[in-house]
Amino acid sequence: MSVLKQVNNILIVGASQGIGLGFVKKLLPRENTARIYATYRHPQSASELIKLADEYPQKLICLAMDVTEEKQISTCVEQLSVQIDKLHLVINCVGILHEGSLQPEKSLRQVNPEHLLRYFQVNSIGAVLLAKHLLPLFRHPDKSIFASISAKLGSIGDNQLGGWYGYRASKAALNMLMRNVAIEYGRSSPNTVVVTLHPGTTDTRLSQPFQKNVPQEKLFSVERTVTQLLTVIEKLQPHDSGQFFSWDGSRLPW
Ligand SMILES: NC(=O)c1ccc[n+]([C@@H]2O[C@H](COP(=O)([O-])OP(=O)(O)OC[C@H]3O[C@@H](n4cnc5c(N)ncnc54)[C@H](OP(=O)(O)O)[C@@H]3O)[C@@H](O)[C@H]2O)c1
Repeated sequence: MSVLKQVNNILIVGASQGIGLGFVKKLLPRENTARIYATYRHPQSASELIKLADEYPQKLICLAMDVTEEKQISTCVEQLSVQIDKLHLVINCVGILHEGSLQPEKSLRQVNPEHLLRYFQVNSIGAVLLAKHLLPLFRHPDKSIFASISAKLGSIGDNQLGGWYGYRASKAALNMLMRNVAIEYGRSSPNTVVVTLHPGTTDTRLSQPFQKNVPQEKLFSVERTVTQLLTVIEKLQPHDSGQFFSWDGSRLPW
């Protein structure tokens, strides 16, 4: 049975806006959704999410979490564990492409070690820390899914264009870390399917400065992306754990 068909507890990490907020909006009205926990970093950029939680106080609970602070991850998981003993679906939607002076590098001249570290801290390391702390909430007999939003730009095999060193490398690292998690969870939490997902170019704050050369039909609305990714998630089978999927359900090269 699909995870989405059973009554479920859901955690959306990075739900303040963009694709994460889209998942919250889409999953909230479902009858099978028992509870959604949604994390944000700053209340300033999470006003829509916080307003939604006021409308659905029993069903939507917002928690503060910066994934670059392991203490914040562990505190958040402790808060969750007081209320529930199992999670069925976790979608990690955290990611940065630009952040103030950190901008995707066009050439080696722009490569900056601090910026590279920041890409890895947010886009790669946060995800493996989530896997570390969430493991106890996945260890139950029901089927569960741990999905991280990656990017096709992180595919080494698909890279023909170059550039965007930090973003590409941090997403490639995310893919490797999640592949490792899938192998370890396969032993310690065998009912959990661990995947990385490419959402397709989606109209969010992250893609906004880079949209001008994207043909209209290739720029998805958040609603469309979330619907497509939920279709992929719904079809996941145990043997899919450790794989990297695109928005249309096809497998992407590493
Ligand atoms: N949009 C696209 O075209 C596209 C394409 C391929 C892959 N992706 C991936 O899709 C995912 C979602 O991106 P999006 O397009 O929805 O972008 P977005 O609207 O900018 O959302 C990114 C989310 O990540 C959160 N975040 C950033 N740094 C964080 C940190 N240190 N700790 C916790 N949360 C943090 C943001 O929170 P704040 O509001 O606090 O900043 C926000 O909730 C990302 O992994 C991105 O790489 C997007």
